[in-house]
This record gives sequence, C-alpha cells and structure tokens, in this order.
Amino acid sequence: MAPTGHGKPRILVTRKMMPDVERRIAAAFAASLNPDDRPMGRDEILALAASHDGLLLTSFDKLGPAFIPALPDTIRIIATHSVGYDHLSIPQAEARGIVVTNTPGVLTDATADIALLLILGAARGASWGDRMVRENRWGATTLVSPMGHDVSGQRLGILGMGRIGQAVARRARGFGMAIHYHSRQPVAAEDALGTTYHARFADMLPQCDFLSVNCASTPDTRGMVDAAALALLPEGAIVVNTARGDIVDDGALIAALGSGRLAAAGLDVFKGEPDIDPRYRDLDNVFLLPHIGSATPRTRSAMGHKCIDNLLQFFRGERPADLLTRA
Ligand code: DGY
Repeated sequence: MAPTGHGKPRILVTRKMMPDVERRIAAAFAASLNPDDRPMGRDEILALAASHDGLLLTSFDKLGPAFIPALPDTIRIIATHSVGYDHLSIPQAEARGIVVTNTPGVLTDATADIALLLILGAARGASWGDRMVRENRWGATTLVSPMGHDVSGQRLGILGMGRIGQAVARRARGFGMAIHYHSRQPVAAEDALGTTYHARFADMLPQCDFLSVNCASTPDTRGMVDAAALALLPEGAIVVNTARGDIVDDGALIAALGSGRLAAAGLDVFKGEPDIDPRYRDLDNVFLLPHIGSATPRTRSAMGHKCIDNLLQFFRGERPADLLTRA
C-alpha cells in the first residue's frame, strides 16, 4: 500500500471509518484506507508505516507492547480514534518526538447512555429476559420469579468523575439515584451535581448499590476493582463497566457473581477483548455487550472528524486541539 497525493501528508488508516470521514481523509491526505476493514496486525502496521507520515489508528488495533519504539522514523503523529489511549505509551511517544492525539468529548453522551443501559439491563435482567422470550420459556414466569433489582432511588458509586462519569451522574439523577464518586480530585462545584465525593475508593464502596467504572485505564487504575474492593460493596451490589476491562479483576468479579454476593454485572469492555474470560458466558447474571459505547453513526463520525482535525492542525504547524503528548 503506497499512498499517492502530490505532497499531501501520507496517512495510514488502520480500520474502515464512516463514509463521510473516509471521503474527507481521502481529500485532505495521501491516504491509505482499509475499505475491507481487514484487521491489521502489529507487524503489518509497522511495515506499512514506513511509507507514511502519520497513523490514524484505533483502540481495537492489536499493537502489543513497545509498538511506538518499533515505529519507523517517518511517523510524526498518531491520531487515535478513541478517547482512551491505554493502547499507546505517551512517554514512549514523547521520547521519539511523535505527537499523539485522541478524541475526547464527542463520545461522552453515547458512552454514558450505554452505562445506563448496563445499569438497567444488569439490574432488570435484560439478558436472561431476552433469552426466556427467544427460547420460548416465557411460561415459566410467576409473580415471584424471575425477579430483577430496583434501580430507581438506589445509590450509585462512580469511579472516575471525568466527562463520561459526570454524564452518567446526570442521567442517573433522572432515576432518583443518590450519587457518590471517587476520583483523584473532587470536581468543580457546578459539575458535582449534588454528588458526594470520597477521597478514598474504599470509603465509597460500602455506599454503592451500583458501581459504575468510568475512569481511564492507567498503571494506577489497572486491577483497582479487585477482590478486596468487591468485598467492600454491599451484598447484592451491581457492577457496570464502560471504561476498560483491565480495571476490573475478572477472576474476582466472576467469583462474586457466581457465589451470588454480587447480584449482577453489566460489561461493555473486557480485558483481552474480544477474547473475553469464557466464564462470563456461563453466568446468567451478567449483561454483556461488545464494546459499543461509542457505536452510533453520529458519534463514530464525530470521532473520525476529530482525528482529521488534529492531523490537519499538526501538519499546518499548529498545536492539535486534543494533544496528549507534551509539545
Ligand atoms: C474509546 O474511545 O476509548 C472507546 O472506548 C472506544 O475505544
């Protein structure tokens, strides 16, 4: 794949994008698109990178460790089509002088909507209810079984009160939920929405009928929702995750769901996805989604345009709006 474009920046796009995004990329850059959406491995991306100036990649690409040190010197910028950037090492990019940008803001609402879907779906049995209808087992319902769990008026703990955490809080208030949160800093008063801040994660957990994971995956947060954290939740609590799978210890969560100590879980993200821990598939009290937090046409299009804006700003010599690396 050798891009042509008469002096335009050469951009390798690793996955198929929304049509309007691909049209704009093709007009603005000497672009190598992936119209068949063939997943590229790390080695293929590295080999193709040698004939490009920038990469437009995604959090779904399997880059593996030490991807950035292995990049050819031609690459000056990586625009990731995601708000999360745990698949890229910012310090490694800074050491190589490679600029990295992401797509904050435009997927906040779509992702917060999915968090509410997980809260409702896990609590009210969307997964097992759907299966009962499809498998023609409706006749087994009685006035006392099966039963879900209340959402309205319950207590919600939010781990990570950034844009998405705050959007989850706004939605949950519509259900009359009492909102608690833990993040490194309390959020500004106008954003706090009548919530209760806990400086220590462990102090928040006993207050949570629901725990929603909304923080970034960093060395500090990976594995944070472990057996000790889950043990601090009240009996019958529900855990939902729209952030990153590796923040939750799968073994601990599966054990707590299997024993019934936790009532349910709703998960859109998984460690090692799409190869998830197979034990999740055998649990009736989990509501599983395939990482679709940002998967609406409007949101995916906005994410793509943000990548393009950042790339154009960089190649014009400007500071990209969503710069992650130090300038
Ligand atoms: C994001 O943007 O980080 C979403 O999780 C999609 O990867």
